[in-house]
Amino acid sequence: MGLSLPHHRALAAPPARSAAPSYPELVAHHDAIYDLLLDGRLAREASPLLDLGSGDGATLGAITAGTPLRAVALDPRPPPRWNGPPETQRARGDALRLPFADDSFASGLLVDAFEWLREPAAALQEAARVVRGPIVVVQTDWPALWFDSEDPDMARELVRRWSEGAVEPLRARLAEEVERAGLAVEELRSVTIRAQTLEVGSLAAEQLRAIRRWLVVERPQTRASRFDRWRRELDRRAAAGHFEMVVRRYVLVVRRGV
Ligand SMILES: C[S@@+](CC[C@H](N)C(=O)[O-])C[C@H]1O[C@@H](n2cnc3c(N)ncnc32)[C@H](O)[C@@H]1O
Repeated sequence: MGLSLPHHRALAAPPARSAAPSYPELVAHHDAIYDLLLDGRLAREASPLLDLGSGDGATLGAITAGTPLRAVALDPRPPPRWNGPPETQRARGDALRLPFADDSFASGLLVDAFEWLREPAAALQEAARVVRGPIVVVQTDWPALWFDSEDPDMARELVRRWSEGAVEPLRARLAEEVERAGLAVEELRSVTIRAQTLEVGSLAAEQLRAIRRWLVVERPQTRASRFDRWRRELDRRAAAGHFEMVVRRYVLVVRRGV
């Protein structure tokens, strides 16, 4: 998906398909998000789900494809190619002014869209107007992204550049904006995702591809030869079975205060 600002990045989306499979490292995480959306209800009672900032729908697909949970996907800039569940209704709109009546949705989802919001508290308040059930907010903590490397200074430098402009400190800011919106935080989890393979198309390989594209091509601040030397070192580690990438995400369940 096209991402324009340094802090506006999702974990690289799975390969384009209508019912997008999840990366193996994300399956348990996505299953846990699905359970939070259902909140003990049947999928049909948790439907419709509003996916705010849905992008190309690949993440929505990874969470809901093959389940009876039905969604409406909203984004101000819907991508030309939709990779989410084919039956999803799609809407163009801004989280600050949702084109829906009060209580239209039984659940809400916001994955890696929090950091894009100009006024997060107002957007969350608006989401709570149209969603009568739980709203699950998921946000990657980009500055905490970590690679096991023989050159930790290089790894830190690349992550610092990649995450320039990220919301910090993320956990506190999430809680603060939810409180400003007058919503209740029912649950706040920190999730650690470990990727230990660098095969073509794997989660870590795609993440590194996105970082390279950003730092070497789109906002050139790192020489390709420097990045590629470091990248080859990671390949050697992976071949020896010593590669690891660690991603931290926060998952919040919020709803209207009582
Ligand atoms: C990093 S992408 C995440 C896409 C998807 N949720 C995922 O996890 O793959 C962030 C998305 O938020 C959308 N977005 C930006 N500003 C928004 C706003 N004001 N209201 C709703 N969505 C917005 C962007 O267009 C983009 O598609």
